[in-house]
Amino acid sequence: MRFSALTQRIGGDGADAWLTHYEAVAARERGEDVIVLSVGDPDLDTPAPVVERAIAQLRGGDTHYAPAAGRPAVRAAIARGHAARCGQAVSGANVVYFAGAQNALFAASLLLAGPGDEVVTFEPMYPTYPATLEASGARLVRAPAGPGFRPDMKALAGLITARTRALFWASPNNPSGVVLDDRELGVIGELAQRHDLWLVIDEVYAGLAPGGRIPSLAARLPERVVTLGSLSKSHAMTGWRAGWLIGPEELARRAELLAMCMLFGLPGFVQEAAIAALAGAAEAEARIREFCRARQARFAAGLHGIAGLEPIAPQAGMFMLLDVTGLGLSGAEFARGLYASQQVSVMDGAAFGRATAGCVRVCFATDEAALDAACTRIRRYCASEPSATRVGSG
Ligand SMILES: Cc1ncc(COP(=O)(O)O)c(C=O)c1O
Repeated sequence: MRFSALTQRIGGDGADAWLTHYEAVAARERGEDVIVLSVGDPDLDTPAPVVERAIAQLRGGDTHYAPAAGRPAVRAAIARGHAARCGQAVSGANVVYFAGAQNALFAASLLLAGPGDEVVTFEPMYPTYPATLEASGARLVRAPAGPGFRPDMKALAGLITARTRALFWASPNNPSGVVLDDRELGVIGELAQRHDLWLVIDEVYAGLAPGGRIPSLAARLPERVVTLGSLSKSHAMTGWRAGWLIGPEELARRAELLAMCMLFGLPGFVQEAAIAALAGAAEAEARIREFCRARQARFAAGLHGIAGLEPIAPQAGMFMLLDVTGLGLSGAEFARGLYASQQVSVMDGAAFGRATAGCVRVCFATDEAALDAACTRIRRYCASEPSATRVGSG
């Protein structure tokens, strides 16, 4: 039987990047002594009022269809939170509720580009980006990273062509934790105006930035900025699949049509719980920031002084890149060797782009005992002359 061309665009390296992670999760579920540091899923409970609201809604019979774009109250709550964060005057009419930022990213991809178009994104990038952005039929153009994994602005300007429709990036970045600053945003904003581009900014980690604030173009360029977000990271609600797209009303109307084709509405009881979550956003974000600060410090202390391993502290977020080139290994070799010999799963930096190929990405937002044990195992692995015993490299 034959499948569509789309199925070829959504396979590939990005999907493969998760294989070791899934293997590790399966092993852990079988009861094996595996430590999973390969996914950004904070080890915190969903805030209690959010759970209570969902349960009350379920008990009250909130189990029927909901509007495709999301309930007006959740859209309005998302708009208020966005306006408070970045100063852009928006209402619920600018918002469409999606099943997580990933779902909103997919929607933005389909709504803004198509066959014959190009979309640009910055390396390093979250591994779902290539498949998600090429699903539309557009060609993905990767802007290289400069020093400190920050986007190379000079290279960026040279990548824009008459076919370019949009720039997509995440700030804070996954995996580097880089938060784009006003100068960088100024350059991007000028390019966008000169070439009439959409700017799609994945702010799934915004609440984890210092004070929950990041520099933003949304208020300055409201006609072309699309903001994606969710409750996954800020509220430790990854499994609830509650996220959004915010943009010009004209875009939101089209996003609603897409949501109608794709989802026909998401669970109402989750939307009501999301309203409760948004009402407690300040406390939830402060909680996750403090959690990440403490775990990051613990992890950095646990790795201190390991020869050949260079931890790179993030500006924000729940990930740390470890440069392993000093051990004579690539990120892929380190990730494979560490998992095979110590049963600690981390992500190969190459999954995020060329600049991070000598690194692995570790999520430190996990429980303290696992983090301490992981540090011991990583230290043991690094002391075992891993470059002399490469596992299945190639
Ligand atoms: C940069 C980035 N964007 C989007 C997502 C997906 O988030 P959500 O759970 O809201 O779909 C993630 C998840 O790790 C991410 O790191």
